[in-house]
Amino acid sequence: MQGLLQDKVAIITGAGSGVGRAAVLLFAEHGAKVVAADINLGAVDEVAAEVAAQGGEALAVECDVTSADSVNALVAAAVDRFGRLDVMYNNAGITTQPGQTFMDASDEDLLKLTSVNVGGVIHGCKSAIRQFEAQGGGGSIVITASVAGLIGFGGVVYGSSKGAVTSITRGLALEVAKKGIRVNSVCPAAMPTNFGGGVLKANEMARQHTAGYHPLGRVIEPEECAAGALFLASDLASNITGVNLPVDGGLSAGKPMG
Ligand SMILES: NC(=O)c1ccc[n+]([C@@H]2O[C@H](COP(=O)([O-])OP(=O)(O)OC[C@H]3O[C@@H](n4cnc5c(N)ncnc54)[C@H](O)[C@@H]3O)[C@@H](O)[C@H]2O)c1
Repeated sequence: MQGLLQDKVAIITGAGSGVGRAAVLLFAEHGAKVVAADINLGAVDEVAAEVAAQGGEALAVECDVTSADSVNALVAAAVDRFGRLDVMYNNAGITTQPGQTFMDASDEDLLKLTSVNVGGVIHGCKSAIRQFEAQGGGGSIVITASVAGLIGFGGVVYGSSKGAVTSITRGLALEVAKKGIRVNSVCPAAMPTNFGGGVLKANEMARQHTAGYHPLGRVIEPEECAAGALFLASDLASNITGVNLPVDGGLSAGKPMG
């Protein structure tokens, strides 16, 4: 059986951990040639080796998404190795300190967060679109936003960065639609990854508490978020663009009665 991304070339940023790592393995399982990019080269070397051990193809690239030059070099490395680019998954992201309020956040916190979560997405989109245009159009961009970009949520400064990328998803989708380029995002709720100091990964009580306010009664596994990204990246979603897809166990749907 053909995979959903058979022979497509996909870049995934933030690929050394959590959602990005899960996406590398899932996209490769679905036939993609994957470029696994992260600021932590050792981590992407490991996941690329895992793909190779399973008979797939992956290239590990060190990339800091806050730098346009670094992201342009990433796209160039993908094209150099695999000849083209079909999917750009802008997934890398960071958060503020756990429990930090809006009033606590310093200008430095805001700048750092914005440069990764918004700047990184903008650099990724621009660089990919230039490449898609050079190939004659087509191509799919996926962004990891967050449920915090859809509803009011703890971590307002973080939420503001994710609100920015849900807005980029809608606006950019309109701007590039005539070129056949699709732009969508996945909006996960809480996931037990290394994110935010890895609290949900390390602390069973915190995980259970967090699971309790998700209507489906559990946190989101990174593989479930990667599955949403796979769908949006693939031709199954060929007429879907400008969508911010919640992968949130129903959290953004509202409050259940009773
Ligand atoms: N974990 C959650 O609860 C949660 C919830 C909603 C949204 N998200 C979003 O999911 C995405 C993935 O997060 P995760 O949970 O897998 O976290 P994670 O911390 O496990 O993984 C993030 C990866 O991004 C990399 N990274 C950080 N800064 C980078 C930079 N400047 N350039 C390149 N790579 C960089 C890190 O090295 C790491 O490998 C992020 O965009 C995050 O905002 C996470």
